[in-house]
Parts: sequence; C-alpha cells; structure tokens
Amino acid sequence: MTLKNLTVLSDYKLGHLKLRNRVVLAPMTRASADSDGRPTERMARYYASFAAGDFAMLITESVYMDDKLSKGSINMPGMTNESHIQGWKRLIDAVHAKGAHIIVQLAHAGALSQWYRDQDVTVAPSSYKPEGERVLAYGQGGEYPAATELTTKEIQELVSDFAKAASNAQKAGADGIEIHVGKGFLHDQFLTEYTNSRKDQYGGSLENRLRFIVETVQAVKKSTEEGFVVGVEISQYKMNNFGFKWPNREADAKIIFESIANAGADYIHVTDYVAKDPAFGEIGGPTLAALAKAYGKIPVIVNGSIVTKEDAEQVLQEGGDMISIARTALANHDWPIKVREGSPLNPFTGEMLADGPTIKDYEMLNASELPQIKPE
Ligand SMILES: Cc1cc2nc3c(=O)[nH]c(=O)nc-3n(C[C@H](O)[C@H](O)[C@H](O)COP(=O)(O)O)c2cc1C
Repeated sequence: MTLKNLTVLSDYKLGHLKLRNRVVLAPMTRASADSDGRPTERMARYYASFAAGDFAMLITESVYMDDKLSKGSINMPGMTNESHIQGWKRLIDAVHAKGAHIIVQLAHAGALSQWYRDQDVTVAPSSYKPEGERVLAYGQGGEYPAATELTTKEIQELVSDFAKAASNAQKAGADGIEIHVGKGFLHDQFLTEYTNSRKDQYGGSLENRLRFIVETVQAVKKSTEEGFVVGVEISQYKMNNFGFKWPNREADAKIIFESIANAGADYIHVTDYVAKDPAFGEIGGPTLAALAKAYGKIPVIVNGSIVTKEDAEQVLQEGGDMISIARTALANHDWPIKVREGSPLNPFTGEMLADGPTIKDYEMLNASELPQIKPE
C-alpha cells in the first residue's frame, strides 16, 4: 500500500466546501427539539460547541422529512415547514459563525420507528414485524409493531417528500443533506432481502431493491441547487441486527457503491462497528471504506470506533477522505484541537447518556459566545 501524504488535520475540499480539516461530527439523535419538531436554542448552542471545538463539518442528528410516519423518535427535529426552517436557520447560522459546515441528516426509520403520534403504525417495503425491542428513551419502548406495506404510489410520494425536505434544508442555509440509508432504516429495509418481498419495481433483484435509494438521491439532487452537497450514509449492520453482512459480500458492495455514486451522490458515509476492521470479517480483507472508495470513486467519510489520531490516520490510509466520530466527540467537543495540541482525550463513558439522549447543560456554548442567538 502506498501511503497517502495527508493527515486528519489537513484541509479538504468537498465539492465547493472548503473544510479546515477532515474531522466530521457523526449524526447523533439528542431528542432536544420542541414537540412540534422545531430545533431549539439548546440545540443551536450544542452544535455550535463542536464548531467552536474546530470540527470542520457537522452532520446533524436524524431529522424527519414528512408529516406522515417519518418522525421516528421523541422530540426529533423536522424539516417539513416554515417554523422548522426558521429554527434550523438560527442553529445553522450559529454553526457557520464558528467556522464549520453543516449537513442535515434526513431519515425515515420505517419499521424501526421508535415513536408514534396517535396509533402504533409503521410502514415498510413489506409487512413484517422487526426483531428486537424499541429503545425506551426514544419513545414508547417495547416490541416493534408489524409494519404496513407501502403502496407503489406511497413510495413515490416519499421520494418527493425527501426532495422537498432537502430543498427546505437549503432554504435554512444548510451546506447539504445526508440520506440515512443504513442501520436498518427504511431505505435499508428496501435493500435487504429479508425485509423486502415486493413484486413491483422496488423488490426482487438487487437493482430493484436499490431503486428507492437511487430515486431519492436523484430527486434530492434535482430539487436543490448546484453545489448543495448530497451524501448517503450506509452500513451493513442494522440497529436490530448488528452482525448482518451483505450476502454476496464484495459483489454486492460493488453494485451498491457504484449505484449510489452514479445516482449523483457527492459523498458516501460508511459506518462499521470498527471502521478499521475488514468489512466481511476475514483477516486482511478490505474495509468498508476501501470498498466504498474503490467502487464509488467519490469522497468517503469513515465512521466506527475511531478514537485516537492513529485510528483516524489508519482509516484515511485505507480509503477514507474524512472521518466521523460520535461517542468520542460527545466526550471531546474539541477533538481536533486536542489532537493538534497532543492533549489527552476524555474517554466516552455510558454515563454520559445514562439519563437519556437529551443535550446536557455542560455540552452547550454559553449564550454570550453566540451573541446572534436569540432565546426562544
Ligand atoms: C447518542 C447516539 C445517537 C445516535 N443517533 C444517530 C442518528 O440520529 N443517525 C445516525 O445515522 N446514527 C446515529 N448514531 C450512530 C452514530 O452516528 C455512529 O454511527 C456510531 O455511534 C458509531 O460511531 P462512534 O464509534 O464514533 O460512536 C447515534 C449514536 C449515538 C451514540
């Protein structure tokens, strides 16, 4: 392997975005929006603290994209109306004021929804009852209900709702959006054979099972202006099936990454439990990031148990262009600064989320550091 001459602290150009380093905040649900899905001042001060800590780009927590069944957890933010746009604008301006770029993650959990408004209803490519249990802190807890099969027309409406939400994100001033395809969410339910037994053009062959992903990327690109970044986050593992691997391994990876890139995505964000481990388990085999780079041939963000600078450098050598961190970022809102100065990192401990995912007071910048932020 020839070593690339780069470091995680070197700058990077993602489309027209100039990133001051290659460190990205991974998406993390924090259940801190108001009950109508409007982002709060608390969220603005939380995200701005990572920007002040020198992160180059922040990917937001999952954001719901329609007013039907995509609100998948309690106090999740939305991107479907003018009040949402105004709430996001305040947050995005605060992040930009501290020098970071921001990408809004648009998500639909489908059958893995954790929360419901009036009745316990979820939708999916086919009717099935997911294994595992819902997380109490995100909603009701308990077993997942059996999902209702989407009609072909409903799938096409979802595609245009993703496009509308992306255009709303652009109106709010975001630098881009990311489609949450992995971790067992709705798009992944289409991709996966055991959750998709459809007989129409969205089921059957891998090409058909990829169609919902491809159409979503294409519609989002069409609804947003040139230069607005459109990313896709993907994993093999699912929230309720951590050991899952694509059945035809590298042959599937090739078709999946090529299809995402050909649909017009600007980056692929790959998540594995441990990013530097081989994607399919065998010693010496390629990482998911290496496969994304080899077949997608577009910028790659790598995620999964990256803690130290050495972890970050290793995944960059193996195909990544940027890294994203979640748990270690919660413990170190200034990870890039600490790494640059060689200061010790705080370890992430489960206690940080023990009383639920909501944003803690110590995680926010003081309002005085963000004079442009108006309280609620
Ligand atoms: C509190 C918390 C909330 C999360 N919420 C999301 C989310 O909204 N969307 C998403 O794609 N991943 C979510 N994740 C997964 C992370 O983005 C990431 O993939 C995972 O934590 C592995 O990265 P890490 O090893 O750096 O923590 C969440 C993780 C944590 C710890």
